[in-house]
Amino acid sequence: MSRTQPITEANNTITTDIDVATTEGIVTLLRRCDAEIFDGWEGHKGLFHKETLDKLSKLAVLASDIIQDTSGSCIVLSGCGTSGRLAFITARSFNEQLKKSGKESIYDYLIAGGDKALFTSQEAPEDDPHIGVKMLCESCEGKKKVLYIGITCGLSAPFVAGQLDYCLQHLDKFTPVLLGFNPTYLARNLPVENWNKTFLQVVKELEAAEHAGKGFILNPVVGPEPITGSSRMKSGSATKIILEAIFTAAHSSTFNPEVPWDIETHFRSYQAIYNSVYLHTESIGKLVAIAGDSLQNGGSIFYIGCDTLGLMGMTDASECPPTYGATLDDVRGFVAGGYHFLQNKEGDLSSNGKYFRISISDFESDILSSLTDQDLVICLNTANSLQSLAGLKESRCKRVMLTFTELPDEHLREFDFVLSLRLPISDAIMEPWRQFHLEIATKWVLNAVTTGAHVLKGKVFQNIMVDLKVSNNKLFHRAVGIIEGLGKTSKELARMFLLRSIYHTEHLTPDQLEAPIAQHIKVASAQNRIVPVALVAAILNSSIENASHLLDSKPVIRMAILQALRSQETNLL
Ligand code: F6P
Repeated sequence: MSRTQPITEANNTITTDIDVATTEGIVTLLRRCDAEIFDGWEGHKGLFHKETLDKLSKLAVLASDIIQDTSGSCIVLSGCGTSGRLAFITARSFNEQLKKSGKESIYDYLIAGGDKALFTSQEAPEDDPHIGVKMLCESCEGKKKVLYIGITCGLSAPFVAGQLDYCLQHLDKFTPVLLGFNPTYLARNLPVENWNKTFLQVVKELEAAEHAGKGFILNPVVGPEPITGSSRMKSGSATKIILEAIFTAAHSSTFNPEVPWDIETHFRSYQAIYNSVYLHTESIGKLVAIAGDSLQNGGSIFYIGCDTLGLMGMTDASECPPTYGATLDDVRGFVAGGYHFLQNKEGDLSSNGKYFRISISDFESDILSSLTDQDLVICLNTANSLQSLAGLKESRCKRVMLTFTELPDEHLREFDFVLSLRLPISDAIMEPWRQFHLEIATKWVLNAVTTGAHVLKGKVFQNIMVDLKVSNNKLFHRAVGIIEGLGKTSKELARMFLLRSIYHTEHLTPDQLEAPIAQHIKVASAQNRIVPVALVAAILNSSIENASHLLDSKPVIRMAILQALRSQETNLL
């Protein structure tokens, strides 16, 4: 029987017990889950499937044509949340490569919510197909030929749906590509507010265009996420691997046609990096323990990085608020050179407030002197540049170094813990491939750090993110699903518990009941603990007030849910 739940929203049976695993056990489970990126899942078409490889080769040829004749052409990568951040990082890296070859930039990125979303989560604009179209039109004004890649891991984001739909109406100019990780029949089929199509309808039109040779759907299956629905993890890694495969192949055939290159070998090289990273499972587990300790004791985690590894830190940090209900202070990333290094379209955003101050010098001036022994600073392969960060040595915080090179003893002594990863990267490997390998290795480690630390903080029940933010339509429906499943109630009742928690009431008014989901999201976005309160109320079939009291007395969300489930069981006996 065919499934109805998108694979990207399904529970991964490997990680069901991640909330009770040891720190090393957590990393072992993540390793097994990440293996599915390469090994595939339940017989679905995966990364190494011939169809996937063929489509990627064709896209590389298209991209190469654009690189060779840049007049009036461009490549646009677009997405929401981590998908948009990876669009940015990829566009940035390949523009850099073009610059080095004396060519002009042809890659552009679009991210829902604009550049602010590069390092702070901005979920509401993900729901708006019209904003998506407007941004796409601005980006492609005056262009004659556009290769557009819309990334939405769940085949669900209205922002991307609007853009794909627009491309489909202008096939003379656009070649639309959808990149995601569900079979097409599992694309989202829920109404999009203020629009007349569902994502599934757009996918069907794109399928027809693909048959006519005018578009592409790239949707290998990499299996459910280790934390249910957390598409920043496996889907994000697969997005990165796929985009880099297409454009590395395109650049290689354009600039080094004598060097043979094939996509499958490219994928195998990432698999080798995966194997090497997880050879260090025990050490990564130690780092998870240190990070968990910080968060559990009210400290923060700071990533400090040079070059694109700093961007990996910022990307990892940015997903913690929507996924775990974390505050913007809990995990932050800083990069040497700040906006000057970023080269983002909107330029310096630091006037928007402290969370938009992103350079290492901002870290020095804003944070360094106030660090406590509960805080953790993780330096990302930055030993040399750290000499300038003298204040860090004197600070009481915990200091960790993630390094890919041999460090001299005098550097090693400066850290409480050094995670030294040896990767199979030979000196013969050309840039930017080498840097991509360091980035994906960093991504796997940092994803483990923040996932593990939030698991240890009790933000996950089984493998479910029970303290997510209800900040867009997808997350609203995910929240209803969590309450329905764990609360063992109907969808309709689960929705009522969620609304009662959002509006802090036992009796919803007709206005509240009839309000569009966008209105519920507006009210919910500004609040904490909405889902835990609704969930505990659903399990106990209690008032919202009682559920809030229980959570006040048991602030570790996982423990509160456990207690609610236990008392429900005893009531049933
Ligand atoms: O809505 C928030 C979010 O879930 C992010 O956590 C995620 O990175 C983003 O949406 C993208 O999701 P998708 O790639 O499926 O559109």
